[in-house]
Amino acid sequence: MLRFIASQLTMPLFFKISIFFFFVSTSLSSSPLEYNHPLESLTLFELTQVTNIVKNSYFPLNVTFHYVGLNEPNKQLVLSWLSSTHHPSLPREAIVITRIDQKTHEIIVDLSSVSILSDKIYNGHGYPMLTLQEQTAANELPLSYPPFISSIKKRRLKLKEVACQGYPVGWYGEEKKSTNRMVKVICYYLDGTVNLYMRPIEGITIIVLLDQMTIASYIDRLIVPVPKANGTDYMGSKRRRSSHESNSIKIVQPDGPSFTLDDGNTVRWVDWKFHVAYDMRAGIIISLASMFDDDKGEFRSVMYRGFASEVFVPYMDLTEEWYYRTYFNAGEFGFGLCAVELEPSKDCPENAKFIDGYFISQDGTPGKMPNVICIFERYAGDIMWRHTEDAIPGEKYFSFISKNLELQIRKIRPEVGLTGLLEVRGSIYTHSDQIKEEVYGTLIAENTLGAYHDHFFTYHLDLDVDGHENSFVKNNLKTRRVIHKSSPRKSYWTVVSETAETESDAKIQLGSSRGAFEMVVVNPNKKTEIGNEIGYCLIPGGSATSPLLSDNDYPQARGGFTKYNVWVTPYNKSEKWAGGLYTDQSHGDDTLAVWSLRKIKNKDIILWYTFGVHHVPKQEDFPIMPTLSTGFELKPTNFFQHNPVL
Ligand SMILES: *[C@@H]1O[C@H](CO)[C@@H](O)[C@H](O)[C@H]1NC(C)=O
Ligand SMILES: *[C@@H]1O[C@H](CO)[C@@H](O)[C@H](O)[C@H]1NC(C)=O
Repeated sequence: MLRFIASQLTMPLFFKISIFFFFVSTSLSSSPLEYNHPLESLTLFELTQVTNIVKNSYFPLNVTFHYVGLNEPNKQLVLSWLSSTHHPSLPREAIVITRIDQKTHEIIVDLSSVSILSDKIYNGHGYPMLTLQEQTAANELPLSYPPFISSIKKRRLKLKEVACQGYPVGWYGEEKKSTNRMVKVICYYLDGTVNLYMRPIEGITIIVLLDQMTIASYIDRLIVPVPKANGTDYMGSKRRRSSHESNSIKIVQPDGPSFTLDDGNTVRWVDWKFHVAYDMRAGIIISLASMFDDDKGEFRSVMYRGFASEVFVPYMDLTEEWYYRTYFNAGEFGFGLCAVELEPSKDCPENAKFIDGYFISQDGTPGKMPNVICIFERYAGDIMWRHTEDAIPGEKYFSFISKNLELQIRKIRPEVGLTGLLEVRGSIYTHSDQIKEEVYGTLIAENTLGAYHDHFFTYHLDLDVDGHENSFVKNNLKTRRVIHKSSPRKSYWTVVSETAETESDAKIQLGSSRGAFEMVVVNPNKKTEIGNEIGYCLIPGGSATSPLLSDNDYPQARGGFTKYNVWVTPYNKSEKWAGGLYTDQSHGDDTLAVWSLRKIKNKDIILWYTFGVHHVPKQEDFPIMPTLSTGFELKPTNFFQHNPVL
């Protein structure tokens, strides 16, 4: 198994996104290395070229960079590059999102001529991702703001122990477009802990205008006890030692890892081949995943591109300082930008290999994120298959067991692990018996309320099942009654397949009450030797969670793409972000939920899958959450002639 741990997001709920790939081990096929991969992330040199040309062309105006990433060549070009043996070099372009003179610009830069190809001003509702630098600057503003200093004195707290963090403000029905980019800054108290998020200073609302970097509004509404520091520390050295700690486990690969990683970050592992890239917004992007078919003697495509498109995290606390906390982690903060360096032997085991990432700071300076992705093989622990036979005359019985070293069925299994710190509200309550009002959460420690919230993870999966023209099929399992006494049985179930013609046919809400079915992306133009359509099946993971907010609630309108767990759209290079390209302060008018009604049968299609968790905080989530894992699988369905592991 290969596991990618992409990021430890620092805000607003820290989580670790792990993408797990389970593959089968058979013989390693050798093929020439691919250099100048068309999907390779922009290099340090290219990033410098891009920002220099943009800065120079606007000089002396101040340009702030919110996103710079690869503008990947058209899919047709990439596919022809892949199938040709000499790998012609393809156009190399960057997409740049900047703010210049309080306007959002979308600029395409050609890297071979180092020139600007196009420059569009975006006038819609949303704003680009926040930069790290403006977040830091906004966080520091209150610390020298006299009204805030007096609020801290009034609470008998020490200013030097205060640390603040800005959060997007969302959108709550204002008709007019907000003319300002802004955050609301929340402050926390250290004084005896590093776990500041467990010690919020409640009752204060500070609005910071980001383009001006000024405090536009300050309200100190009420004083609430700051939860105490004792018990909030999660650092190893401060923890009480248990007499029941487990012994250590070591992972040993005496012959080294069995995957290779060439210059363009193409991973070859057993019969799989795929490309890994880092992006400031998406974090990890997996592209061109294909598998070598021993029967056919060739690589067969499975997925053109897959990445986490958005994570929507609405909190349920309606108090003045909390109601707006309804985050879009990719669109507002960027998974890649919030990623941190992975620690060898801690985040990833000893046998891991690491990949660095490069991003752009607000002022255009490129920065390196070392070890931002790791790849390793893991013993899956369970068996691949097993069968015990006792029906053969003359034999006692015998078993066939296929040991699952790194073996698993040929499937793709992205997995997300949620861990880190809850966002908690300081409260007057020290015992749940005292609570007689709606507090929108669980008392998880004295003076500490863990607010109810959701996490909805939306994946963009451009499956190309053995070719790029695919259809989406829902195989309904239907109960049939036996009539006319044709059988001693009264009922059975059978499969009734429906192929989606349009996007609206393919929207699916999962959930136990919605009937039994399978969801398969098939290649209607290819069949197995015995005539079944070749496909890959989506196996939903975790709980089938649907939003519980009303459709007309503003955060739900912005996160409308979570209403269905499955959407299918025709390929469109610019439709990558389920919550829209400009998510900060968006109105929900450019989301997956509003692109619809197009034809999708036997076309190049994208499968969007959302899974979620409703999080009712527990005392065990304090002071740091143990990892909660959830995910899904993509599993071959009549893709092979027989069990490919045999
Ligand atoms: C922290 O709490 C524990 C009991 O929960 C107590 O024994 C200890 O003295 C406390 N430490 C401080 C510094 O208050
Ligand atoms: C591609 O997507 C964009 C954004 O949704 C849309 O404006 C454009 O019309 C789409 N193009 C096609 C060919 O559907």
